[in-house]
Amino acid sequence: MPDALSFLTYRAWTAQVKGLDSFPPELWPQNIALLYYSYHIMVGLGTIFIAIMLVAAFLLWRGKLFSARWMLWILLLALPFPYIANTAGWLTAELGRQPWLVYGLMRTADGYSKMVSAGNAMFTLLGFLGMYTVLSILFLFLVRREIEHGPVAESISQH
Ligand code: HEM
Repeated sequence: MPDALSFLTYRAWTAQVKGLDSFPPELWPQNIALLYYSYHIMVGLGTIFIAIMLVAAFLLWRGKLFSARWMLWILLLALPFPYIANTAGWLTAELGRQPWLVYGLMRTADGYSKMVSAGNAMFTLLGFLGMYTVLSILFLFLVRREIEHGPVAESISQH
């Protein structure tokens, strides 16, 4: 799409966006493949979400959404993908700023504490993994309970 990347990056349609080949390889992010695919997964999913919402909003406007089972299935099955897009977006931001912690001033390799060992960091990471696993299971359990509970019946008006 002509000019779109210029606007996305610099909020100006005619700004020049430099490619990786304008920088020496020691200033490149280390994992370009993962960065490339994370970004494409995020934007691809984002585009699909927009399309789904447009169709769903159209059906809602025509009063057909709640009886269009195929669309309800698509909406239900779309549930996990915003989480994936979110994670891919975060990967994009973190991988894309490598090798800098502070752009042009401090490299990531110079930014870690010499007082914290790799083992310590791994221990904390595993602790967070454990905590998030417990929270995820709790989340699924609560969502399931909410679904089994069903929607609240609308009160029938008396007049
Ligand atoms: C239509 C497509 C999309 C485009 C063009 C787009 C564009 C971008 C760009 C350029 C970045 C990097 C920003 C930076 O660090 O400079 C980014 C980051 C991010 N995106 Fe997307 N995105 C799209 C869809 C989505 C969707 C659908 C989600 C989630 C549901 C998402 C979640 C994120 C997150 C969490 C970040 C990281 C933000 C941060 O850590 O600062 N994006 N996106």
